[in-house]
Amino acid sequence: MTHFSRIGFILAAAGSAVGLGNIWKFPYITGEYGGGAFVLVYLLTIAFIGFSVLMAEMYIGSRGESDTVTSFERLAPFKKEGWKYAGLMAFNGLFIMTFYSVVIGWIFHNIYTTIVYGLPTDIPTAENSFNMLVTQQPFTQLVWHTLATAIVLFVVYKGIKSGIEKMNMILMPALIAILLGLLFYSMFFSDAFTRSLEFMFYPNWDKLSSEGIVRAIGHAFFTLSIGMGAILTYAAALPKHVNITKAAFFVTLLDTVIALIAGLMIFAFLFQFGSEPAKGPGLVFQSLPVIFSQIGLPGTIIALLFFLALAFAGLTSAVSLVEPTVEYFSSRFNYSRIKAVITSGAIYYLIGILVLLSTTEGVGEYLSVTLNSSSSFTLFDMMEQLTDAILLPVSGLAMAIFVGYVISQEKVSNDLKEEMGTVIYKTWRFSVRVIAPAALVFMLLNLTGIIEIKAQKTSQEPIEQKER
Ligand code: PHE
Repeated sequence: MTHFSRIGFILAAAGSAVGLGNIWKFPYITGEYGGGAFVLVYLLTIAFIGFSVLMAEMYIGSRGESDTVTSFERLAPFKKEGWKYAGLMAFNGLFIMTFYSVVIGWIFHNIYTTIVYGLPTDIPTAENSFNMLVTQQPFTQLVWHTLATAIVLFVVYKGIKSGIEKMNMILMPALIAILLGLLFYSMFFSDAFTRSLEFMFYPNWDKLSSEGIVRAIGHAFFTLSIGMGAILTYAAALPKHVNITKAAFFVTLLDTVIALIAGLMIFAFLFQFGSEPAKGPGLVFQSLPVIFSQIGLPGTIIALLFFLALAFAGLTSAVSLVEPTVEYFSSRFNYSRIKAVITSGAIYYLIGILVLLSTTEGVGEYLSVTLNSSSSFTLFDMMEQLTDAILLPVSGLAMAIFVGYVISQEKVSNDLKEEMGTVIYKTWRFSVRVIAPAALVFMLLNLTGIIEIKAQKTSQEPIEQKER
């Protein structure tokens, strides 16, 4: 296994964390669950649960120094080797890729149509073209899904140092520069920017439901790339003597700041141009292009930059979703790198085709389950919710228990106490042993409907349209 440089590791881990989750998903779920209170729960989860479990995952990788399964196996005490099966979490990454790659495809499509046809100028047109793509153009989606797959597999094939590290060294700074530029631009909408700040940071507790809390916790894991072995596999390629506490802290900070910047900027644009925040997954694909179109030519450039940033964020995460199984196939089954890359790629690429067909009219019915007249799940929804709500928390729980109870606590303390300092070490340990498992169990129980907190107001009040 080749190794990262120190900065390469941090950028790659941050590149994994900063993804569509930050720029596409965080703003729309914040909108759906009512803003401030949701953001606060999310921030608390990141600080007290996400960071701790991220640390645990980095720790397992940095001491196991191998693929996910072997790393667990090496650290597991005598007679507890069965823990190695927790390492199968590497496959969560491929599950995520089945829809992640499709969404990256949508972004490519948006860049293409913006260049060729310009931006849609009204919401119905934008909705129409997005819905058309998703429900009636499986072939177009397939082309973009294939392109996304080709880029991702090529980079992964080039390896840790000359593929993944190199990509992140270029795309991450570019992504950060673009987002800061857009944030700066949106600050000129002073009223709308203030409203955006208020929407994101003023907690309106009435709007918080248990579903919101569960989504916040699930998203905290998703956004930090915890629970599919991405961080573990990257940490296994760390150079010696890297302070993983600092690395984990920096990754968490960068990921959170970027989500907040994306949210602030997107809501500022929405408020400025009289649109509302509760828009769902179509938010960045439908509302934003129309808003950008109202700015004229600079708007087209802004839109292109925005979608480029989104594509960069998506690609740097995607490579980290594929690398764990590539490492697993190479080190456990002695696959050559190319064979491991093709095997991993084929698994998600083929399921990805079913995923994109599942939203297509006609065929989609065969790839969806209808629960009752009002709710039906496409394979797309199922993949997303399966990973977000079940696989990532279960893997997170496994890692917290493994590091908090199963492996030699003396070794953990020797390894980390000095690096963290006593106070942080104790807090971290309490979190890994108690808070994180409790929160994760809460999440999983909520899923089965055993625990439920109801929002006081079920429907979200429409945010009044701003006069322009
Ligand atoms: N963290 C990425 C995001 O926010 C998604 C991801 C999840 C990437 C898990 C790698 C592993 O979009």
